[in-house]
Amino acid sequence: MDRRDFLKLGGTAVAAGALAGRRAAAAESGQSAAPLAAPPIETVRIGYVGIGGQGSGHVSNLLKIPGCRITAVCDIRPERTTWATAQITAAGHPAPAAYTRGPHDFERLCETEDLDLVYNATPWEWHVPIMLAAMKNGKHAATEVPAAMTIEDCWAIVESAEKHRRHCVLMENCNYDRMEMMVYNMVRQGALGEILHAEGGYLHDLRAIKFADEGEGLWRRAWAAKLNGNLYPTHGLGPVANCLDNNRGDRFEYLVSMSGPSRGLQDWAAAHVPADSPKRRERYVLGDVNLSLIKTARGRTIVVEHCTNLPRPYSRIHMVQGTKGLFQGYPNRVYIEGRGREDQWQDAQAMLAEFEHPLWKEIAAAAKGAGHGGMDFIEDYRLIKCLREGQPTDFNVYDAASISAVVGLSVRSVASKSAAVDFPDFTRGGWKTAPPVPILHM
Ligand SMILES: NC(=O)c1ccc[n+]([C@@H]2O[C@H](COP(=O)([O-])OP(=O)(O)OC[C@H]3O[C@@H](n4cnc5c(N)ncnc54)[C@H](O)[C@@H]3O)[C@@H](O)[C@H]2O)c1
Repeated sequence: MDRRDFLKLGGTAVAAGALAGRRAAAAESGQSAAPLAAPPIETVRIGYVGIGGQGSGHVSNLLKIPGCRITAVCDIRPERTTWATAQITAAGHPAPAAYTRGPHDFERLCETEDLDLVYNATPWEWHVPIMLAAMKNGKHAATEVPAAMTIEDCWAIVESAEKHRRHCVLMENCNYDRMEMMVYNMVRQGALGEILHAEGGYLHDLRAIKFADEGEGLWRRAWAAKLNGNLYPTHGLGPVANCLDNNRGDRFEYLVSMSGPSRGLQDWAAAHVPADSPKRRERYVLGDVNLSLIKTARGRTIVVEHCTNLPRPYSRIHMVQGTKGLFQGYPNRVYIEGRGREDQWQDAQAMLAEFEHPLWKEIAAAAKGAGHGGMDFIEDYRLIKCLREGQPTDFNVYDAASISAVVGLSVRSVASKSAAVDFPDFTRGGWKTAPPVPILHM
């Protein structure tokens, strides 16, 4: 994708020269990449933008979390702000201000509302414009995944967060899933030895969703006509990157990526979409299976896979391997040398008694019934807690940028015969000294 496409898509009208200049100036000034801790906020006032499938879940979660209020809501569909208003008032809070005057009305929300946080669950093309508007107007920003679809936009959020001293958080719910947290805890305790390799992915048959006349069908399929690479790396990569101390002792250095043929969406359309539908004239460039390999600065390896256009059961792969053993997801199993039978997997459930992450023990009851097995509630809870306590957020803008950068870099690598492409060091050297993500608590 060239710069013109990026401007069309991301809408972040930043001149390339100015961008490079600012980056150099920041590097010279030795701007710190240390985790940002903003002043504590007693009651976090939230503006929620994009209340569709995923946004509705977050709104419901936030209404159950102490110390926050949703005081403004925004969606291009007024029925969604009406729905949110009904939920908010039913929970005993005042009706929020509603912003429904079209796709740029979030700008008015960011400019006029007195808010601490603007949290969005909009289509991918809106994440960066919304976060930049939020931070420019003094609000912390949180976004659904991925944070950004181009390297330029990854830099834009980093620079805005640094300039305005605001949090900019990628809400990667899979970081908080039960097995992912258990594995992180095992890694911290050294149970798998020195971690050398990991694999993660997003393997999810989304064909029916992509062709629906509602929800993600209105925007997600369009990306498959524009980009060929890994369009959704964060669910698989986020949790394993934590086990490899990404941005906290190690960092992604370069990537090579390959996509196979594009068949799934056209086959689905031929079988399910009427012959006279405009959808039948669409052509897709997204390879059904994309594989990327990441090498880290410390020489370790990560495989990231994306597959959303083919019939298959769901998987995020979730594999973390060290000098003493490994965890392998889907199904969840563990092998640790010297434990159990040689050459035989052990069921990971059996490890929970010893390695369950403390946060999961503490919060499981409160998270029960919330989206995606409870992890969505836990990530929302942690975000609000960090803001209220003035703590660094669990994951920061450098994580958002480096994990999301796989989108832009995989597209570049696929387009250039799988050439190696470098990750920018968004932390500007800060990764060498930043401490690991701590063991989190409620
Ligand atoms: N973390 C997860 O497990 C998970 C699951 C699903 C979706 N998501 C992410 O959540 C985001 C939204 O996905 P979804 O499934 O909820 O999609 P959706 O289409 O159901 O919801 C998007 C909402 O945003 C609104 N919207 C669109 N443009 C807008 C704009 N400019 N301003 C305000 N509102 C706007 C739409 O009207 C809709 O209500 C995406 O980034 C997606 O990748 C994450």
